[in-house]
Amino acid sequence: MILEAKNLSKIYGGSSPGAFYKALDQFNLTINEGEFVGIMGPSGSGKSTLLQILGTIETPSSGELVMDGENVVAMKQTQLADFRREKLGFIFQDFQLLDSLSIKENMLVPLVLNKKSNQEMEERVKQVAAYLGIEAILSQRPYEVSGGQKQRAAAARALIHQPSLVLADEPTGNLDSKSAKALMELLVDLNHQEQTTILMVTHDPVTASYCDRILFIQDGRLLNEIYQGDRRADFYDQILLVQSSLGGELYDTKIPRF
Ligand SMILES: Nc1ncnc2c1ncn2[C@@H]1O[C@H](COP(=O)(O)OP(=O)(O)OP(=O)(O)O)[C@@H](O)[C@H]1O
Ligand SMILES: [Mg+2]
Repeated sequence: MILEAKNLSKIYGGSSPGAFYKALDQFNLTINEGEFVGIMGPSGSGKSTLLQILGTIETPSSGELVMDGENVVAMKQTQLADFRREKLGFIFQDFQLLDSLSIKENMLVPLVLNKKSNQEMEERVKQVAAYLGIEAILSQRPYEVSGGQKQRAAAARALIHQPSLVLADEPTGNLDSKSAKALMELLVDLNHQEQTTILMVTHDPVTASYCDRILFIQDGRLLNEIYQGDRRADFYDQILLVQSSLGGELYDTKIPRF
């Protein structure tokens, strides 16, 4: 999936009449097929807003967005819903699994919506569950499994329909360092094996160090971008350096987890 955004702005209305807030300010971004891109920035800088606009959940106040050759901004709601369901996969910090469904049923949701055959559904569940190592918990409910297992189930649901773009908002935010590392290794593997394009918001430099490229945003604007070189440990140091140069106190930097 190739993504091209031009001059994207998002203005939210304020609580009092006339008050408004510019969460995204003339944002330009091009993402190539198969890239793994991270987005970092202080709280309130517009990261989730950007991700939601690129995920077609929010509409921009102005600007252009072309994804997979299609002008997303011009699409009607029903077209957008189709586009989202077929081409995008979402992973959130709080998992967003349905407690009334088993892990397997949660995974099936995107396939049911895309009207896949029973046979295809069974095959995909088997494949993805094996890939993510969650075969043993398929019949459990989300509240019966651990945080790491929940996030792997959420990743399974996001990946089961083989989306061309995966959007993740703080996917490791509720995970311990071991589960976070496992999830990141899975995403890197998916990115390398299937050329799935991934866009991930994170405040954690270790999580970010798995990306090929990181965009730093502040006040809804792109401030800086850096590319991964040969070694992840060097990239991690570079991330910390950029963070401190942009005002380290704004970042919730944790103790390194290497
Ligand atoms: N639905 C909304 N209505 C009004 N203002 C909003 C809405 N969503 C976000 N904002 C405002 O837009 C700005 C950017 O919010 P956003 O959620 O994109 O930040 P963020 O970078 O994801 O922050 P965090 O790291 O805390 O998740 C914030 O000032 C926020 O209060
Ligand atoms: Mg956010």
